[in-house]
Amino acid sequence: MEKNAVFPKLNGLAHGGDYNPDQWLGYPDVFAQDIDAFKKAGINCVSLGIFSWASYEPREGEYHFEWLQHVMDTLYENGIYTILATPSGARPAWLDKKYPECMRVDAYGIRNHHGDRHNHCMSSKIFREKLNNINTLLAQRFANHPGLIMWHISNEMGGECFCPECIAKFQEWLKVKYHNDINELNHAWWTTFWSHKYSCFEEIEPPFWNGETSILGLNLDWKRFTSWNMTDCMNSEIAAVKAYNPDIPVTANLMNFFNGLDYREMAKDIDYVSWDSYPRFHNDWETFDDTMRELACSHALFRGLKPDRPFMLMECTPSLVNWQPYNKLKRPGVMRLQALQAIATGSDTVQYFQLRKSRGSFEQFHGAVIDHAGIDNRVFREIAQIGADLKKIAPVAGTHLKADVAILFDWDNRWAIQDMKGMIYDDKKYERVVIEGWKEFNRAGAEIDIISYNDDFSKYKVIYAPMLYIVRPEVAKALTEFVKNGGQLLCTYMTGYVNETLLAHLGGFPGEGLSDLFGVYSEELDTLFPSDRNHIKFADGTVCEVKDCCEVLKVKDAEILAAYTEDFYKDTPAVTVKKHGKGSAYYYAARVSAKDMVPIFEQMCKDAGVTLEKMPETITRHVRYGEEGTYHFYLNISNQSAEVCAVKGTDLLTGKAVSGNISLEPYGVAVVKAE
Ligand code: GAL
Repeated sequence: MEKNAVFPKLNGLAHGGDYNPDQWLGYPDVFAQDIDAFKKAGINCVSLGIFSWASYEPREGEYHFEWLQHVMDTLYENGIYTILATPSGARPAWLDKKYPECMRVDAYGIRNHHGDRHNHCMSSKIFREKLNNINTLLAQRFANHPGLIMWHISNEMGGECFCPECIAKFQEWLKVKYHNDINELNHAWWTTFWSHKYSCFEEIEPPFWNGETSILGLNLDWKRFTSWNMTDCMNSEIAAVKAYNPDIPVTANLMNFFNGLDYREMAKDIDYVSWDSYPRFHNDWETFDDTMRELACSHALFRGLKPDRPFMLMECTPSLVNWQPYNKLKRPGVMRLQALQAIATGSDTVQYFQLRKSRGSFEQFHGAVIDHAGIDNRVFREIAQIGADLKKIAPVAGTHLKADVAILFDWDNRWAIQDMKGMIYDDKKYERVVIEGWKEFNRAGAEIDIISYNDDFSKYKVIYAPMLYIVRPEVAKALTEFVKNGGQLLCTYMTGYVNETLLAHLGGFPGEGLSDLFGVYSEELDTLFPSDRNHIKFADGTVCEVKDCCEVLKVKDAEILAAYTEDFYKDTPAVTVKKHGKGSAYYYAARVSAKDMVPIFEQMCKDAGVTLEKMPETITRHVRYGEEGTYHFYLNISNQSAEVCAVKGTDLLTGKAVSGNISLEPYGVAVVKAE
């Protein structure tokens, strides 16, 4: 077993999901049937107690943990381990009735009513006290249970609260950040504009929707604060459960490219990153291939949050969800493909929402491993097949991927771009640019990490940093060193416009010395209407279509690779490169499709000595490396059979030696242990 495996006790990969036996306490036969089904499906771990606060504490101070004890004991006796949640994902009604300050206040200053879930104030002292109490009781009783393998903190944290306690805390947070100096804050936020100067921290309100939303530095700091405050609340939960057994790791289930929290900061405080994945398979706006590549990109995002260890696929639906506008079934074989893709891209787990369908309420028709009608059905058979497959590829647990190419993506930068007043006002498409870049460079044959601008660049040979709008001095320095040490860097329009508090860099964009690195400066930014087009032309005659935006560049000492073909900036530079020894700094001033950027990407890889492993059109390949073996995953991301050439080793799924061409059935997968 590799030393980095997430769950050494499982001796392989985890196969499980959210399980809510407290909904079934009046149905004693159901639990026995479920255990039987779990064994048939190769389920080796379950996530318990995610929304169980009202079952643990139905009235203030009255506790019932005996049902959980029985469930965990019985599961353990049957070889099934528990990931136990802290129950802050939803609160009992008595708590909100007695202590209304536990409920959030919205951006108009109105307090929410009790209901749904995820509606707690992260600052409320009484909420934290009650939460700490229930978490402490859970930990006292279960932290040393032999079946416990992980804590699951809350559920899909997110959201903001504008209550008086949060406002006071925000003001304190600002005092620390701006050294208790209101003039420092006034300068950083440029508050002289529109007479928005503050005379003391107590005057500052968060960006209420009917209040102050025009100070961009305030808006960004509010997002940073909210994220910090949620992380702080999470950390109070972690401290409560770790107090009784520090060796049990913790995770928090994150959401795909979620905008509301800075996951990079949050991930520092959890032991493993896990995420909940609900792609819209078989939709009518993109190809299946595109859906699958975008999903691989999401896995790379989560893998990058803690690059030294595997991540976890905490939730996905066995068949369909019930909350999307159109809730289509996954076609036969697609759940298996999705499961093995998660493993291929660095997960050590395949977990579902949910193991058994709830009989009533919101999620009664959401997909599950065990249906209302039982387990004699297609979905269950597919899940059982996945369980068997995961056992066959158990040695993969704890192995890792290797990438020479990285894309930069940061929440701070994302929030700043979203709120920038200009360009396309409502949607500057930062995430889209990142995702499309990932997909196309992956199609070209690269494995790609998604990293932060605070990460160590020296691990990579090629870096793509689109729309790097905020540039701090350390980041500019690190990028410059990267290039001077032979790295290949590609940046785009909207690079280096502002500093950390969103003040424009003076002296030309890209700021902080990056203009020298690229040998260009950007004089103007032109935004195109949706039906407007421009084009750029390369020396070899290639012409690419431009949408959305064009920067007008002045070249200092860079080589011009392409120029605009239309408008008043016709014939002026659109794509440039400046060489620094073996390193290169490319600047793409116009927004073209990611596909059109591939030739430059390929050139960068060539110059960096990165080999691209281009696969047949509908095949994706990922490799996991370990001490005991190297595992090549070939995934057929289409509903047609496909061939892969030059494969050598043992296919762990079939147990057969393979050498030469292999054929993959529609949605088929091979996991080849190299010789
Ligand atoms: C997730 C959530 C689960 C369940 C699921 C349904 O976002 O964490 O509790 O509601 O969605 O798809």
